[in-house]
Amino acid sequence: MLVREDALVKTDPLFSGKTVFVAGGTSGINLEIARSFAHRGARVAVASRDPARVDAAAAELRAISPAAMGLPCDVRDYDAVAEALAKIRERFGEIDIVISGAAGNFVASADTMSSNAFRTVVDIDLIGTFNLYRAAYLHLRCPGASLIAISAPQGSRAYAGQAHVCAAKAGINMLTKCLALEWGPQGIRVNAISPGPVEGTEGMARLASTGEMAKRLTGAIPLRRFGQATEIAEAVLFLAGPGAQYVTGAVLDCDGGFTADDGSAFSVPSVEH
Ligand code: NAP
Ligand code: COA
Repeated sequence: MLVREDALVKTDPLFSGKTVFVAGGTSGINLEIARSFAHRGARVAVASRDPARVDAAAAELRAISPAAMGLPCDVRDYDAVAEALAKIRERFGEIDIVISGAAGNFVASADTMSSNAFRTVVDIDLIGTFNLYRAAYLHLRCPGASLIAISAPQGSRAYAGQAHVCAAKAGINMLTKCLALEWGPQGIRVNAISPGPVEGTEGMARLASTGEMAKRLTGAIPLRRFGQATEIAEAVLFLAGPGAQYVTGAVLDCDGGFTADDGSAFSVPSVEH
């Protein structure tokens, strides 16, 4: 019988017996990452704020991997994050892979944004990543654990209308490197992925909300197309897997070459003065 190549890849049990926690794993790119680990044999837990989303994602993941679980949790609340991680540890044992994907984004220029608006995004993206990693540290498999943050081009490039996101994602990139230094001796690897624009996502609905903006953005990507969530998941699997055991402190661009130029090809038109 002929077996399709992609079916073979999806059922490769590369992460069999591993425990994976995806914070913000109930939609979009992060849910695709959770699916990809589940398809490869991992026990997967996902968390986000909305209990209905958590239940729906957990049910979908259980259809792939019966051990999957979902936990409602806001990454801004350290105690809630710690409680979620303790539950995962209790059920699955030591945690092998932690993905920090929770994020918030909207387009607003700094002169129109409130202090609370700026803080909200920094809280979710950057403080949320610290909360997650700090709480996870107590439950990680050492040596061997792998922590991966979902960063963005805003982490290394300035964009008008994105001061809050740029500050938060740049912070994530540096947190990644600092923790790689501190936790490397214990055998914990800490990396980040920086996806470019990804098709069909909430992020792109917010940033490229019109056909015209999507066209401009596509023109600024050397590969001349948006990425697929599955392509971001493949890069995450690489960083978490045996092929990247000597990689730590890295921010891997997975963006069709979007950040390979000087960044002038695209800006957010709605805040241009
Ligand atoms: P998305 O579907 O909106 O996913 C965000 C997830 O985070 C949701 O599951 C959301 O669920 C959760 N979340 C938000 N605030 C949270 C909080 N305070 N605590 C816990 N969970 C929270 O977005 P996406 O577009 O797929 O983006 C996913 C990741 O990729 C983000 O880190 C984003 O910055 C990054 N990224 C995206 C793109 C892109 O093209 N979309 C490009 C570069 C980087 P609840 O609402 O239930 O909390
Ligand atoms: N422009 C300017 N300010 C905005 C804004 C916008 N489009 N959207 C929200 N804010 C401000 C609010 O007015 C508030 O500030 P204020 O108290 O001074 O009025 C502050 O941001 C917090 O908003 P709130 O709605 O209370 O925050 P929340 O914690 O409920 O939600 C967000 C967080 C705002 C990031 C929300 O968009 C969200 O939940 N996003 C998650 C999904 C997402 O962004 N996905 C894409 C990931 S790339």
